[in-house]
Amino acid sequence: MIILGIETSCDETAAAVLQKDGDRITILSNVVASSADLQAKYGGIIPEQAAREQIKAIIPVIEESLQVSGYSGQEIDTIAVTYGPGLIGSLLVGVETAKVLATVWGKPLIPVNHLLGHFYANWIQAEHLRGEAEMTPGTHLGGETPSFPCLGLLVSGGHTDLVLFTDHGKYTYLGGTRDDAAGECFDKCARLLGLPYPGGPQISKMVQKGDPKKFKLPIPMKGSKDFDFSYSGLKTAVANLIKTLPVIPSETRNLSRMRVPNESGDPSLIVQDDNILADLAASIEEAIVTSLVDKVIQALKAYPVKNVMVAGGVAANQKLVHNLKFEIRNLKLEISLHVPPPTLCTDNGAMIASAAFFEKRRTDPLKLQADPSLSLTNPSF
Ligand code: KG4
Ligand code: ZN
Repeated sequence: MIILGIETSCDETAAAVLQKDGDRITILSNVVASSADLQAKYGGIIPEQAAREQIKAIIPVIEESLQVSGYSGQEIDTIAVTYGPGLIGSLLVGVETAKVLATVWGKPLIPVNHLLGHFYANWIQAEHLRGEAEMTPGTHLGGETPSFPCLGLLVSGGHTDLVLFTDHGKYTYLGGTRDDAAGECFDKCARLLGLPYPGGPQISKMVQKGDPKKFKLPIPMKGSKDFDFSYSGLKTAVANLIKTLPVIPSETRNLSRMRVPNESGDPSLIVQDDNILADLAASIEEAIVTSLVDKVIQALKAYPVKNVMVAGGVAANQKLVHNLKFEIRNLKLEISLHVPPPTLCTDNGAMIASAAFFEKRRTDPLKLQADPSLSLTNPSF
């Protein structure tokens, strides 16, 4: 079975062709075009601009994904597309393109919830990415895929959710963020530090030289008995902390990083010392990662399952994977941790195609509607 997966929920335009042989899902092609350079310039995503870039990119991206896979549009079996959640203009680009292609090529169309799609990156056996996986502690690439029951942590730019899967498409929602998502917190804190969008990878790059214990930041929701998260308070704590640090006008300094206006609206001031910046970045990462790992361990004590999977852009964070692996091993319960390789953590078409292999439902291509507010608690189409 061959599926073309299309993903345009946020600022990426992505298409991939995947093959399923028995239990084995492999990537034949995986093409991602990002307008991240534009977002970096403006310090974040401008929805209309993202959609305009996606309109330009969608056909070339799909064409390239088919060409690399060696299959024509007529030869694939099925088309899968993200229909929500996300930015409405962006979703429409993928959904309307998929509807037209499914109709013209006479193929079934499978709508995929983007959030579930992230989890299905864990079912891809991407052997050509094995080198990358080996650098990521805790991954099981090319080896075993998750089995049920499985605890799932989704950590993306817009979502932070804990879910207990009992089978494909069957899950109980345990909790989620009450305000900002973990990725959003990385992005907003990076912006406060004067780092470009997306902030998560930028903060991760800076932490090597930083001391994570240097600044005492609050660990969000520490000690709360539920499975919820909250990150807006951490961002405020970072903003308040920065006000106490020595700052200089940004133009007096030769910056290796790009300067963007910070949230306080003052683009002219910047934390003076690179060492302090590195310490701040490390302390922010420490607080976010600790809160995520604490909740996973708390959930494992309440629901003693043998499989845990992580998904979403923040799953590309090496400290998160390392600390999760360490704390899970400390439980001494022989639990397997599944994390996709970094390129499959951030938005891509491969995860959408992978999810579609397990989706039994089909939709009339002409009736499918994009749903920007789709969530894990209203998973209908
Ligand atoms: O899943 P994703 O690609 O898009 C959404 O569906 O939202 O996630 C993007 C998020 C951004 O907030 C980005 O800063 C974060 O993932 N991210 C990271 C890392 N790589 C991407 N956060 C922390 N460390 C990283 N290495
Ligand atoms: Zn995503």
